[in-house]
Amino acid sequence: MRSEIASFKECKSIAIMGGTFDPIHNGHLVTAEAVRHRFNVDKVIFIPTGRPAHKAKRQITANEHRYLMTVLATMRNQNFEVSRIEIDRPGMTYTIDTIEALKQMCRPDVRLYFITGADAIHQIMNWKEPERLLSLCDFVAVTRPGYDRERLYGDIREIKEKFTSRIHFMEVPALAISSSDIRNREKRGEPIKYLLPQAVEDYIHKFCLYQDEEKDEVKFMLDLGVMQEKLQSALSIKRYIHTMGVADEAERLAEIYGTQRDKQKARVAGLLHDCAKDFPPEMRDRFCKEYKVPMDEYMIKIPDLIHPFLGAEVAKREYLVADEEILGAIRFHTTGKANMTLLEKIIYIADYIEPNRESFDGIEEARRLAYLDLNMAMKYILEETIKYVKTKGREIHPLSLEAIEYYKEC
Ligand SMILES: [Fe+2]
Ligand SMILES: [Fe+2]
Repeated sequence: MRSEIASFKECKSIAIMGGTFDPIHNGHLVTAEAVRHRFNVDKVIFIPTGRPAHKAKRQITANEHRYLMTVLATMRNQNFEVSRIEIDRPGMTYTIDTIEALKQMCRPDVRLYFITGADAIHQIMNWKEPERLLSLCDFVAVTRPGYDRERLYGDIREIKEKFTSRIHFMEVPALAISSSDIRNREKRGEPIKYLLPQAVEDYIHKFCLYQDEEKDEVKFMLDLGVMQEKLQSALSIKRYIHTMGVADEAERLAEIYGTQRDKQKARVAGLLHDCAKDFPPEMRDRFCKEYKVPMDEYMIKIPDLIHPFLGAEVAKREYLVADEEILGAIRFHTTGKANMTLLEKIIYIADYIEPNRESFDGIEEARRLAYLDLNMAMKYILEETIKYVKTKGREIHPLSLEAIEYYKEC
């Protein structure tokens, strides 16, 4: 983000190319370059969406994969930049929030062009705060050839009469390429070469993206050996032994309750669940700031509650884990929460019962329940943990209270 601010401050005009980029392809790149040339903008910023508000039907690929593919696709053009502004923002994504955040990073007189599909222009009055949006930036409506221009012109006229902002129209032949077509081709084993940059194609193949959910195994950017080596230097010996115990236990539970994919994910989540726990306080605070870990009053009062939330960010940035399920399991391994995923429950339970833990009251019962029914084990461990935390005179995190309410009813 710091480098974004530095490079945007210089620009008099910027075009913004938002999209899910799942995957980014040559149509996007040709469009961005055409807009840059026609409007003579200093930079085009590609902004991969977080959770899009308008396109929630399909399960989109993990944020980090889409971000990295966009970086790979744009790195050879010095006028192109990629921003994490949307993928790092929690919750639903609205264009107005992005434009406003971006404007703050730029000089006050910057001219912004927002590139969007012509289809979206028809819908623009349904977006969040459309009037304000239209007052902050110009719109470039791009279409593939053969688009019904008359209908579009009609809608643009209607909008133009109401708002002063300018809406421009551009036909881009390369937009005949589509991300959904690339995904389908990849799934069917058909070639995708020349539809997207070679580096993106290589990335898709390396991580087996867009293949049959059941068939593919999860690929990680670091192999498990490298992950373990990194952990060994980041953790105390005691913590490392505990970590290996959690990874083994999580794998065993996933073998019983899940699929081969779950087993692999459980191993990685188990290995990384405490990856930020041994950070010295100054390092922990620095990373929290840099990775924008949202802090609540409980985390400020009880610093031990920080490590799962920071751990998820460290797993993402330092151990290059893109899988949201794994990151969720790391994030909630201490507090728990209502309605947890299979992997979240497995890591929460494995952390409590792993074989290297010194014996304490209740561990054997937790072990028995874990191999009988995960929800019963969740309820038992949550109750025991809350009891223990109360004896220490500490407050209970609201996520744990929600969790116990939920698992009491299961
Ligand atoms: Fe932990
Ligand atoms: Fe742990």
